[in-house]
Amino acid sequence: MTITDDAPADGSTMAETVGEATTERIGDADWWRTAVVYQVYPRSFSDSDGDGVGDLAGVRGRLPYLHELGVDAIWFTPWYSSPLADGGYDVADYRTIDPVLGSLEEAELLIVQARELGIRTIVDIVPNHVSDRHAWFQDALAAAPGSPERDRFWFRQGRGVDGSLPPTDWESSFGGGTWTRTTDQDGTPGEWYLHLFAPEQPDLNWQNADVRAEHEDVLRFWFDRGAAGVRIDSAGLPVKDPSLPDMRGVSGYGAGEHPHLDRDELHDIYRAWRRVADSYDEPRVLVAEVWLADADRFAAYLRPDEIHTAFNFDFMTGPWRADAVRAVIDATLRSHAPVGAPATWVLSNHDITRPVTRLGRAETSFSFDAKRFGTPTDRALGERRARAAALLAAGLPGVLYVYQGDELGLPEVEDLPRESITDPMHFRSGGVDPGRDGCRVPLPWTSTGSAFGFSPDGASTTPWLPQPRDWGPLSVQAQSQDPSSMLSLYRSALRLRRAEPALRSERFSWVPQRASGVLSFARGDDLICIVNFGPHDHALEPDADILLASAPLVGGALPPDTAVWLRRRPGAAHPAPPETALHPSDQQRS
Ligand code: NOJ
Repeated sequence: MTITDDAPADGSTMAETVGEATTERIGDADWWRTAVVYQVYPRSFSDSDGDGVGDLAGVRGRLPYLHELGVDAIWFTPWYSSPLADGGYDVADYRTIDPVLGSLEEAELLIVQARELGIRTIVDIVPNHVSDRHAWFQDALAAAPGSPERDRFWFRQGRGVDGSLPPTDWESSFGGGTWTRTTDQDGTPGEWYLHLFAPEQPDLNWQNADVRAEHEDVLRFWFDRGAAGVRIDSAGLPVKDPSLPDMRGVSGYGAGEHPHLDRDELHDIYRAWRRVADSYDEPRVLVAEVWLADADRFAAYLRPDEIHTAFNFDFMTGPWRADAVRAVIDATLRSHAPVGAPATWVLSNHDITRPVTRLGRAETSFSFDAKRFGTPTDRALGERRARAAALLAAGLPGVLYVYQGDELGLPEVEDLPRESITDPMHFRSGGVDPGRDGCRVPLPWTSTGSAFGFSPDGASTTPWLPQPRDWGPLSVQAQSQDPSSMLSLYRSALRLRRAEPALRSERFSWVPQRASGVLSFARGDDLICIVNFGPHDHALEPDADILLASAPLVGGALPPDTAVWLRRRPGAAHPAPPETALHPSDQQRS
């Protein structure tokens, strides 16, 4: 890549300044096993036309930034036409781009231009539900009970003498019930329809052949346009027990017996999707969003003829504690090994409190139920830990996910004006849950300017979510000039991850440490990652070269809440044989 002297002041580079593309990983059929995937929330990434909302042309203009950061793929949260009842996860039409974001031609151009820079595109597919504005749902509302149009969804008569009670007692993870009653043409109350999320997101009936055929067609639509893969939203939810049993009073479910989670029939659906993905000369890849407590049930989705990878939410939501982190790494590697799938390491996404904020709290683990306004946080501590967490995650074997803005260390914005909040999680909790807008605030690109470069200079509209006034020093421009910034740390880590074959291998083994609260693991023969979770400095072995540290070392020791990557010098004494040696390739690729 060639960067000219007149690169924009924000530290990114315009598309025209890019000379030769990085093609080293193109054509590598296994790219997805070790990729760095950057998550773009399009409305908040970069606004090219000054309407205060990010768009696809904005992303195109920032591709050199992503190239320089060192990402292999971009996952776009839904960019389709949507009334935005749930930030785009209410899709009205999979074959059109939301006009606020651009056009289909713009998306095609983006896919091609990203690919020229060695960056693949992953699009989001939401099989559990569509928008209530989707043509199918509008047809279903206009059709009679028992019609084929209604059979694509879950329409049912209500209970009670006048049908005024919902068909089941299921609760929505967005709060409230999961059924909404329709009104018939003559104005009388009609059937109810199921929505596990908001009422504007009616659930599809996956027993209906149209639903299956349509989704396979949508996959082909995007794969034909060059998408390298799909992220499958709420992948554990689409199949329901057709008897629609109540859930209250049930103390637990056997494997595959929950009425709407992790049903066995899902596997057949994803096997069919895999066949579609595998039918391309360069096979496409599937990544699943599955929240499951049972590690073996989780891994079953990753069998060789199903989904390639799935988000590691146990890693993302766990507390900042050596024993807990070690346990989750062990469990992850153990459960993935038998199915031959790479693990993923995810620190956050568009649903989760930003790491800089979360890791500075007394309670560092994440749970949707526990989100409240006004939870105190120590930002400096959170940032220190988020830096260490970045090196930890980037040092582990498998796929790394980076959510936009985490590479800048953006905090959660917890004081958004109430009138700017859009998230249904906030409203359906009666305003108790702050919602997820705080991690979706538009990125700062320049140190100054009314929208910190998110919108072009002179734009008359302000960003759709207001940015904190003190975000100038967090901007790409400011951080690009500071070798000690979070952005510089990410750039260095991703550069090393690419350059060091050990970091792209599957080799991983724990290195015993005497100090509790310190985790150390080896990648390959001589590369070691050490994370100090404890309260004391940790002395490092002398016969090693420091490759990268998340904070300055103190007299050769690793301070608390700091991580380091180092290389043992040839001939250096190994402290002890590895306790565990998990080489997934040895176990499953026979
Ligand atoms: C998971 C997505 O990540 C989240 O943003 C969305 O609200 C739900 N699925 C429903 O689609």
